[in-house]
Amino acid sequence: MAQLWGGRFTRETDELVYRFNASISFDQTLWRQDIEGSIAHVRMLAETGILTRQESGQIVDGLEGIRRDVENGTLPIGGQYEDIHSFVEATLIDRIGDVGKKLHTGRSRNDQVALDMRLYVRDEVDQLKKLTVSLLKTLHALMKEHVETYMPGFTHLQKAQPVTLAHHIGAYMEMFKRDYERLRDIRERMNVCPLGAGALAGTTYPLDRERTASLLGFSGPSLNSMDAVSDRDYVIELLSALATIMMHLSRFSEEMIIWNSNEYQFIEIDDAFSTGSSIMPQKKNPDIAELIRGKTGRVYGALFSMLTTMKGIPLAYNKDMQEDKEWTFDAIDTAKSCLSLFRNMLAATTFRKDRMKESAKNGFTNATDAADYLVNKGIPFRDAHGIVGRLVLYCIDNKKSLDDMTLDEYKQISPVFEQDIYEAISMENCVRRRNTIGAPGPEAMRKVLAVNEKYLSEIESE
Ligand code: ARG
Repeated sequence: MAQLWGGRFTRETDELVYRFNASISFDQTLWRQDIEGSIAHVRMLAETGILTRQESGQIVDGLEGIRRDVENGTLPIGGQYEDIHSFVEATLIDRIGDVGKKLHTGRSRNDQVALDMRLYVRDEVDQLKKLTVSLLKTLHALMKEHVETYMPGFTHLQKAQPVTLAHHIGAYMEMFKRDYERLRDIRERMNVCPLGAGALAGTTYPLDRERTASLLGFSGPSLNSMDAVSDRDYVIELLSALATIMMHLSRFSEEMIIWNSNEYQFIEIDDAFSTGSSIMPQKKNPDIAELIRGKTGRVYGALFSMLTTMKGIPLAYNKDMQEDKEWTFDAIDTAKSCLSLFRNMLAATTFRKDRMKESAKNGFTNATDAADYLVNKGIPFRDAHGIVGRLVLYCIDNKKSLDDMTLDEYKQISPVFEQDIYEAISMENCVRRRNTIGAPGPEAMRKVLAVNEKYLSEIESE
């Protein structure tokens, strides 16, 4: 057992207590950030004259050596260390001797871990942003391709009105744009540096907190040292954003599973993203989409775990906060792999335009347009609704669609119908006429595509 705090103790830590308390098994994930933070701290200590140039040079060289050796695998992390901070500090002292003991001057593990976690989350948010941009680009490309791919739009999973595939995918485009913006907002808000907060009350050393903040790419130092060591809001914000991303991926996955089913056959998920059955030779299952849907639960779990952990913690640091790590790491890894797998699966999917169009033609998706036709001929909408209801009933009884009815049959239900009803309810026209912004009509869709084109080029340079 290697501990940083043995001086005050007369008896050894109980073995079970030691294992229960230790975090090295999971906080080793933070090794890069721990070293990066220490290097910035020591540079600042030398610049302010708290350490000599020579001392800081030796410490920085030592830390860089540790970084190199962990990187190339010659220095395995682990052994009898309580946490990653103890591992790095003890290894440094082993390697460079007593001068290594000066590393922790003007610092506590409380501001140290707050910094490490913040640096880690910030890096991960940057990666999550990139993955979201890549998904957005794929959605945009599909939208451009499918402005005239007709399909039924659903409410209550019942066919409702005809839309296009571009319009349906466009709904997800909007969701993931908001997801991207949430990540961007979180990054900006979290980008303040806790280093220098000490255990909770700052320090008496004349630290230059602005300097460490800028060395580490933060917009500035945090303004309250108690908040700095106790704040995990940004973790909660990220988990909430990830839960929302997963919810969106899960809804889209669910739709892909339905569309890929034998009954629908709107799409064919590529072989590379499907698996077979050990007993039923005919099966090709959408396991990846199902797993993405399933993994949503673990990300929600991380959010609730973190909210619950934080709710009763008095200021300032308490060990409960060590529980911020495992679930957060897991949620980030899960969301990252789901974002990239989903994108790849979608890009490799075949869309069966014929099946979608056929499906949009059956199921009375043009019934609203038939009612609108009557309204244009002067019938009040409520009456028009009733007339078309009777048409639909007639069609169901006679196994017909609205397009197959003869004009005589129409006229028997209402004399207002004329030859132009057929043009009014043709599926293409139903879609083409819907051109208010946000609707599936091609004119409206092209305006939205132009907005998205610009949006994508802007976020790519962020
Ligand atoms: N492993 C701890 C954590 O994750 C590091 C901070 C320890 N600080 C302390 N006062 N025990 O929160």
